[in-house]
Amino acid sequence: MEHLEIHPPPKPVHPSAEVMVRTRDLYKSFGDNHVLQGFNLDLFKGENLVVLGKSGSGKSVLIKCLVGLLSPDKGLVEVFGQEIPKLNQDDLDHIRVKIGFLFQSSALYDSMTVRENLEFPLRRHWISKTRDEVDELVIEALDNVGLKHAVDLMPSELSGGMRKRIGLARTLILKPDIILYDEPTTGLDPITGREISRLIVDIQHKYNTSSIIITHDMGCARIVANRIMVLVNGICYAVGSFEELKNSDDPNIKPFFD
Ligand SMILES: Nc1ncnc2c1ncn2[C@@H]1O[C@H](COP(=O)(O)OP(=O)(O)OP(=O)(O)O)[C@@H](O)[C@H]1O
Ligand SMILES: [Mg+2]
Repeated sequence: MEHLEIHPPPKPVHPSAEVMVRTRDLYKSFGDNHVLQGFNLDLFKGENLVVLGKSGSGKSVLIKCLVGLLSPDKGLVEVFGQEIPKLNQDDLDHIRVKIGFLFQSSALYDSMTVRENLEFPLRRHWISKTRDEVDELVIEALDNVGLKHAVDLMPSELSGGMRKRIGLARTLILKPDIILYDEPTTGLDPITGREISRLIVDIQHKYNTSSIIITHDMGCARIVANRIMVLVNGICYAVGSFEELKNSDDPNIKPFFD
Protein backbone atom coordinates (compact mmCIF):
# COMPACT_ATOMS: atom_id res chain seq x y z
CA MET A 1 0.00 0.00 0.00
CA GLU A 2 2.69 2.46 0.91
CA HIS A 3 3.94 2.55 -2.69
CA LEU A 4 0.51 3.06 -4.20
CA GLU A 5 -0.08 6.47 -5.66
CA ILE A 6 -3.43 7.77 -6.73
CA HIS A 7 -3.43 10.29 -9.61
CA PRO A 8 0.36 10.14 -9.81
CA PRO A 9 2.61 11.39 -12.55
CA PRO A 10 3.93 8.31 -14.38
CA LYS A 11 7.15 7.04 -12.88
CA PRO A 12 9.93 5.11 -14.62
CA VAL A 13 10.65 1.44 -13.90
CA HIS A 14 14.28 2.44 -13.94
CA PRO A 15 14.82 6.17 -13.61
CA SER A 16 17.01 6.24 -16.73
CA ALA A 17 14.74 4.06 -18.86
CA GLU A 18 14.01 5.28 -22.34
CA VAL A 19 10.41 6.36 -23.00
CA MET A 20 8.93 4.50 -25.99
CA VAL A 21 5.38 5.86 -25.84
CA ARG A 22 4.18 9.00 -24.12
CA THR A 23 0.80 10.65 -23.89
CA ARG A 24 0.13 13.90 -22.09
CA ASP A 25 -3.23 15.50 -21.45
CA LEU A 26 -4.85 13.29 -24.09
CA TYR A 27 -8.50 14.03 -24.89
CA LYS A 28 -10.82 12.14 -27.20
CA SER A 29 -14.60 12.49 -27.38
CA PHE A 30 -17.26 11.16 -29.72
CA GLY A 31 -20.00 13.78 -29.58
CA ASP A 32 -21.10 13.97 -25.94
CA ASN A 33 -19.22 10.82 -25.09
CA HIS A 34 -16.06 12.11 -23.40
CA VAL A 35 -13.87 9.02 -23.48
CA LEU A 36 -10.33 10.22 -22.74
CA GLN A 37 -10.16 13.28 -20.53
CA GLY A 38 -6.50 14.05 -19.99
CA PHE A 39 -4.84 10.65 -20.10
CA ASN A 40 -1.12 10.54 -19.22
CA LEU A 41 0.99 7.50 -19.96
CA ASP A 42 4.65 6.58 -20.23
CA LEU A 43 5.76 3.24 -21.62
CA PHE A 44 9.38 2.54 -20.76
CA LYS A 45 11.75 0.44 -22.81
CA GLY A 46 11.49 -3.25 -22.05
CA GLU A 47 8.44 -3.10 -19.80
CA ASN A 48 5.03 -4.68 -19.99
CA LEU A 49 2.50 -2.05 -19.02
CA VAL A 50 -1.04 -3.26 -18.37
CA VAL A 51 -3.95 -0.84 -18.80
CA LEU A 52 -6.96 -1.96 -16.80
CA GLY A 53 -10.37 -0.46 -17.35
CA LYS A 54 -14.02 -1.37 -17.44
CA SER A 55 -15.70 -2.25 -20.71
CA GLY A 56 -16.32 0.96 -22.65
CA SER A 57 -13.83 2.97 -20.57
CA GLY A 58 -11.73 3.82 -23.62
CA LYS A 59 -8.92 1.27 -23.65
CA SER A 60 -9.22 0.48 -27.35
CA VAL A 61 -9.65 4.17 -28.16
CA LEU A 62 -6.41 4.85 -26.29
CA ILE A 63 -4.33 2.42 -28.30
CA LYS A 64 -5.94 3.48 -31.54
CA CYS A 65 -4.75 7.00 -30.77
CA LEU A 66 -1.23 5.63 -30.24
CA VAL A 67 -1.03 4.14 -33.73
CA GLY A 68 -2.81 6.98 -35.49
CA LEU A 69 -6.01 5.05 -36.23
CA LEU A 70 -7.87 7.75 -34.29
CA SER A 71 -6.74 11.33 -33.99
CA PRO A 72 -6.96 12.90 -30.54
CA ASP A 73 -8.95 16.09 -29.94
CA LYS A 74 -6.17 17.49 -27.81
CA GLY A 75 -2.91 16.49 -26.17
CA LEU A 76 0.40 14.87 -26.94
CA VAL A 77 0.91 11.39 -28.43
CA GLU A 78 4.55 10.48 -28.94
CA VAL A 79 5.98 7.18 -30.12
CA PHE A 80 9.76 6.84 -30.44
CA GLY A 81 9.84 10.56 -29.67
CA GLN A 82 7.73 11.44 -32.73
CA GLU A 83 4.36 13.14 -32.51
CA ILE A 84 1.96 10.70 -34.16
CA PRO A 85 -0.84 13.15 -35.09
CA LYS A 86 1.66 15.36 -36.94
CA LEU A 87 3.10 12.63 -39.17
CA ASN A 88 2.24 12.32 -42.84
CA GLN A 89 1.11 8.94 -44.17
CA ASP A 90 4.61 7.87 -45.25
CA ASP A 91 6.17 8.61 -41.88
CA LEU A 92 3.26 6.99 -40.09
CA ASP A 93 3.67 3.83 -42.17
CA HIS A 94 7.35 3.85 -41.36
CA ILE A 95 6.65 3.97 -37.62
CA ARG A 96 3.89 1.39 -37.80
CA VAL A 97 6.37 -1.20 -39.06
CA LYS A 98 7.98 -0.99 -35.63
CA ILE A 99 4.70 -1.20 -33.70
CA GLY A 100 2.90 -4.52 -33.56
CA PHE A 101 -0.81 -4.27 -32.94
CA LEU A 102 -2.71 -7.35 -31.82
CA PHE A 103 -6.33 -6.44 -32.40
CA GLN A 104 -9.13 -7.32 -30.02
CA SER A 105 -10.49 -9.66 -32.68
CA SER A 106 -7.59 -11.61 -34.18
CA ALA A 107 -8.42 -10.02 -37.55
CA LEU A 108 -7.01 -12.81 -39.70
CA TYR A 109 -7.98 -12.84 -43.36
CA ASP A 110 -10.35 -15.77 -43.66
CA SER A 111 -9.66 -16.39 -47.34
CA MET A 112 -5.90 -16.67 -46.81
CA THR A 113 -3.90 -19.55 -45.35
CA VAL A 114 -1.90 -19.01 -42.18
CA ARG A 115 1.23 -18.61 -44.32
CA GLU A 116 -0.39 -15.95 -46.49
CA ASN A 117 -1.71 -14.15 -43.42
CA LEU A 118 1.81 -14.00 -42.01
CA GLU A 119 3.34 -12.85 -45.30
CA PHE A 120 0.81 -10.06 -45.58
CA PRO A 121 2.55 -7.50 -43.29
CA LEU A 122 5.79 -7.95 -45.24
CA ARG A 123 4.02 -7.26 -48.51
CA ARG A 124 1.99 -4.39 -47.12
CA HIS A 125 5.11 -2.63 -45.91
CA TRP A 126 6.98 -3.34 -49.15
CA ILE A 127 9.68 -5.23 -47.34
CA SER A 128 11.62 -7.00 -50.04
CA LYS A 129 12.84 -10.47 -49.18
CA THR A 130 13.66 -13.57 -51.17
CA ARG A 131 11.20 -16.48 -51.11
CA ASP A 132 13.53 -18.40 -48.79
CA GLU A 133 13.88 -15.45 -46.41
CA VAL A 134 10.12 -15.03 -46.26
CA ASP A 135 9.65 -18.75 -45.57
CA GLU A 136 12.22 -18.55 -42.81
CA LEU A 137 10.53 -15.56 -41.17
CA VAL A 138 7.13 -17.25 -41.34
CA ILE A 139 8.41 -20.43 -39.74
CA GLU A 140 10.33 -18.52 -37.06
CA ALA A 141 7.26 -16.47 -36.17
CA LEU A 142 5.09 -19.60 -36.00
CA ASP A 143 7.70 -21.41 -33.94
CA ASN A 144 7.61 -18.58 -31.41
CA VAL A 145 3.94 -19.27 -30.79
CA GLY A 146 4.27 -23.07 -30.98
CA LEU A 147 2.28 -23.46 -34.18
CA LYS A 148 4.76 -24.40 -36.91
CA HIS A 149 2.52 -27.25 -38.02
CA ALA A 150 -0.40 -24.87 -38.75
CA VAL A 151 1.34 -23.08 -41.63
CA ASP A 152 -0.96 -24.38 -44.37
CA LEU A 153 -4.25 -24.29 -42.46
CA MET A 154 -7.08 -21.85 -43.13
CA PRO A 155 -8.27 -19.60 -40.28
CA SER A 156 -11.59 -21.50 -40.21
CA GLU A 157 -9.63 -24.60 -39.20
CA LEU A 158 -8.14 -22.88 -36.13
CA SER A 159 -9.48 -22.76 -32.58
CA GLY A 160 -9.89 -19.38 -30.84
CA GLY A 161 -6.63 -19.85 -28.95
CA MET A 162 -4.80 -20.78 -32.15
CA ARG A 163 -6.19 -17.69 -33.90
CA LYS A 164 -4.80 -15.49 -31.13
CA ARG A 165 -1.42 -17.18 -31.48
CA ILE A 166 -1.42 -16.78 -35.25
CA GLY A 167 -2.40 -13.13 -34.81
CA LEU A 168 0.57 -12.79 -32.49
CA ALA A 169 2.88 -14.55 -34.96
CA ARG A 170 1.75 -12.12 -37.65
CA THR A 171 2.59 -9.25 -35.30
CA LEU A 172 6.02 -10.73 -34.56
CA ILE A 173 7.03 -11.19 -38.18
CA LEU A 174 8.07 -7.53 -38.48
CA LYS A 175 10.12 -7.81 -35.25
CA PRO A 176 8.40 -4.81 -33.66
CA ASP A 177 10.00 -2.77 -30.88
CA ILE A 178 6.60 -2.05 -29.37
CA ILE A 179 3.62 -4.40 -29.19
CA LEU A 180 0.11 -3.23 -28.32
CA TYR A 181 -2.12 -6.07 -27.18
CA ASP A 182 -5.86 -5.40 -27.08
CA GLU A 183 -7.52 -8.01 -24.86
CA PRO A 184 -5.15 -10.84 -25.77
CA THR A 185 -6.93 -13.43 -23.61
CA THR A 186 -10.58 -12.47 -23.99
CA GLY A 187 -12.80 -15.32 -25.15
CA LEU A 188 -10.25 -17.98 -24.21
CA ASP A 189 -10.55 -20.60 -21.49
CA PRO A 190 -8.39 -19.88 -18.40
CA ILE A 191 -5.71 -22.41 -19.33
CA THR A 192 -5.29 -21.11 -22.89
CA GLY A 193 -5.45 -17.56 -21.54
CA ARG A 194 -2.58 -18.40 -19.21
CA GLU A 195 -0.57 -19.86 -22.09
CA ILE A 196 -1.03 -16.68 -24.12
CA SER A 197 -0.03 -14.59 -21.08
CA ARG A 198 3.17 -16.61 -20.67
CA LEU A 199 3.85 -16.20 -24.36
CA ILE A 200 3.61 -12.42 -23.94
CA VAL A 201 6.30 -12.60 -21.23
CA ASP A 202 8.47 -14.92 -23.36
CA ILE A 203 8.28 -12.47 -26.25
CA GLN A 204 9.14 -9.56 -23.96
CA HIS A 205 12.29 -11.35 -22.83
CA LYS A 206 13.29 -12.80 -26.19
CA TYR A 207 12.93 -9.61 -28.24
CA ASN A 208 13.22 -6.96 -25.49
CA THR A 209 9.91 -5.52 -26.64
CA SER A 210 8.04 -2.80 -24.79
CA SER A 211 4.34 -3.55 -24.62
CA ILE A 212 1.01 -2.16 -23.59
CA ILE A 213 -1.44 -4.87 -22.69
CA ILE A 214 -5.08 -3.87 -22.51
CA THR A 215 -7.08 -6.31 -20.45
CA HIS A 216 -9.65 -6.91 -17.77
CA ASP A 217 -8.37 -10.43 -17.19
CA MET A 218 -6.63 -10.20 -13.83
CA GLY A 219 -4.94 -13.56 -14.35
CA CYS A 220 -3.29 -12.14 -17.45
CA ALA A 221 -2.39 -8.88 -15.66
CA ARG A 222 -0.74 -10.78 -12.82
CA ILE A 223 1.44 -12.82 -15.19
CA VAL A 224 2.47 -10.12 -17.67
CA ALA A 225 2.54 -6.77 -15.84
CA ASN A 226 5.61 -4.93 -14.70
CA ARG A 227 3.28 -2.02 -13.97
CA ILE A 228 -0.47 -1.58 -14.09
CA MET A 229 -2.40 1.58 -14.91
CA VAL A 230 -6.06 1.89 -14.05
CA LEU A 231 -8.15 3.90 -16.52
CA VAL A 232 -11.16 5.49 -14.80
CA ASN A 233 -13.29 8.31 -16.19
CA GLY A 234 -10.83 9.00 -18.99
CA ILE A 235 -7.75 9.50 -16.85
CA CYS A 236 -4.95 7.38 -15.46
CA TYR A 237 -6.42 6.95 -12.01
CA ALA A 238 -3.69 4.87 -10.41
CA VAL A 239 -0.37 3.21 -11.23
CA GLY A 240 1.35 0.41 -9.36
CA SER A 241 2.51 -3.16 -9.41
CA PHE A 242 -0.08 -5.94 -9.24
CA GLU A 243 0.67 -6.45 -5.54
CA GLU A 244 0.39 -2.76 -4.72
CA LEU A 245 -2.95 -2.32 -6.46
CA LYS A 246 -4.31 -5.62 -5.16
CA ASN A 247 -4.14 -4.32 -1.62
CA SER A 248 -5.96 -1.08 -2.39
CA ASP A 249 -9.28 -0.30 -0.73
CA ASP A 250 -10.09 2.36 -3.32
CA PRO A 251 -13.59 1.77 -4.72
CA ASN A 252 -12.32 2.39 -8.27
CA ILE A 253 -9.54 -0.18 -7.95
CA LYS A 254 -10.76 -2.87 -5.59
CA PRO A 255 -13.50 -4.29 -7.88
CA PHE A 256 -10.90 -5.41 -10.44
CA PHE A 257 -9.29 -7.63 -7.84
CA ASP A 258 -12.44 -9.08 -6.21
N1 LIG B 1 -15.18 5.20 -33.78
C1 LIG B 1 -16.02 5.48 -32.77
N2 LIG B 1 -17.07 6.30 -32.94
C2 LIG B 1 -17.89 6.59 -31.91
N3 LIG B 1 -17.74 6.13 -30.66
C3 LIG B 1 -16.71 5.31 -30.43
C4 LIG B 1 -15.78 4.93 -31.46
N4 LIG B 1 -14.87 4.10 -30.93
C5 LIG B 1 -15.20 3.97 -29.63
N5 LIG B 1 -16.29 4.68 -29.32
C6 LIG B 1 -16.89 4.80 -27.98
O1 LIG B 1 -15.87 5.09 -27.05
C7 LIG B 1 -16.10 4.40 -25.82
C8 LIG B 1 -14.89 3.60 -25.46
O2 LIG B 1 -14.77 2.53 -26.39
P1 LIG B 1 -13.56 1.49 -26.34
O3 LIG B 1 -13.72 0.61 -27.51
O4 LIG B 1 -12.28 2.22 -26.21
O5 LIG B 1 -13.87 0.71 -24.97
P2 LIG B 1 -12.97 -0.40 -24.29
O6 LIG B 1 -12.50 0.14 -22.98
O7 LIG B 1 -11.96 -0.89 -25.24
O8 LIG B 1 -14.09 -1.51 -23.99
P3 LIG B 1 -14.01 -3.12 -24.11
O9 LIG B 1 -13.38 -3.59 -22.84
O10 LIG B 1 -15.43 -3.51 -24.18
O11 LIG B 1 -13.23 -3.47 -25.34
C9 LIG B 1 -17.37 3.59 -26.02
O12 LIG B 1 -18.43 4.32 -25.45
C10 LIG B 1 -17.52 3.51 -27.52
O13 LIG B 1 -18.86 3.45 -27.88
MG1 LIG C 1 -11.70 -2.62 -26.29
